Amino acid sequence: MSDFIWLNGEIIPFSEARIGVEDRGFQFADGVYEVLRLYRGKPFTLAEHLDRLTRSAEGIGMSVPLPAAELGAQIGKLVSKSGLRDGMVYLQLTRGCSPRNHVIPAEIKPTLLFYARPLPPPPVPGEGEGVKLCTVPDERWKRCWIKSIALLPNILAKSQAVGGGYDEAVFIDHGTATECSASNLFAVVGDKLVTHPIGSKVLPGITRAVLLLCAAGLGIEVDERPIREEEAARAGELFITSTTREISWVASWNDRYIGQGRCGPITTALHRALQSRINEE
Ligand SMILES: Cc1ncc(COP(=O)(O)O)c(C=O)c1O
Repeated sequence: MSDFIWLNGEIIPFSEARIGVEDRGFQFADGVYEVLRLYRGKPFTLAEHLDRLTRSAEGIGMSVPLPAAELGAQIGKLVSKSGLRDGMVYLQLTRGCSPRNHVIPAEIKPTLLFYARPLPPPPVPGEGEGVKLCTVPDERWKRCWIKSIALLPNILAKSQAVGGGYDEAVFIDHGTATECSASNLFAVVGDKLVTHPIGSKVLPGITRAVLLLCAAGLGIEVDERPIREEEAARAGELFITSTTREISWVASWNDRYIGQGRCGPITTALHRALQSRINEE
């Protein structure tokens, strides 16, 4: 694998990339991002990710500097030049460089970059260790649908979780479990799949959306509603989803086992269905 980056229209060696000190992404976290999963050299759900990028950019009063088709083609070029087959593409769009001022300048050229990185092979459904969750207060802003690079609450929550011997932190908002620091949360309650509705409090995960299609395909009823912390902690099965992890089954919630501390049948069936969709695409 060769280490290249696409930066403002040019593909250059990663080590040669330079960003201005006054880039508003660096000074104000004034920007948005995407993470795409590569399978066999192809980005999965590319159109959906680029669509969310457009919505995130619009959410902060920006537009994506390239049409989606052109951006998709440029991502393809970078991926083939990098020689990476299985991994991820990190894409970041910031407002750009300008003398430091809170007020957004009328004229400014955005900074757009992306690069690819390897990832371990996808997990085998139902196998591996379950994820240990802990809860943290949800102190984030109310525009979580924007995939903002301002991730301090998320990185503090995740670091607190990992520092305490857990794998991921669940945000609790007034007693309700919204999502995790870098993933969406699903619970199996009775024979229904429950997940927080999209809106101001969760990121509209691309994996979440694909998973809802998988659930429909398997005839699993879905209830998109807020779930109370006590109810989530007592669910028969819990799992989390994201582009890089696909599905991870949850073994415990604040040190209390979920189910029998094994991956449940609905989680396994959904993960298999997700992998079939990936292979089909
Ligand atoms: C806060 C948050 N929620 C959910 C997700 C999952 O989104 P996706 O499935 O699009 O990767 C992420 C992924 O980074 C995230 O950061």
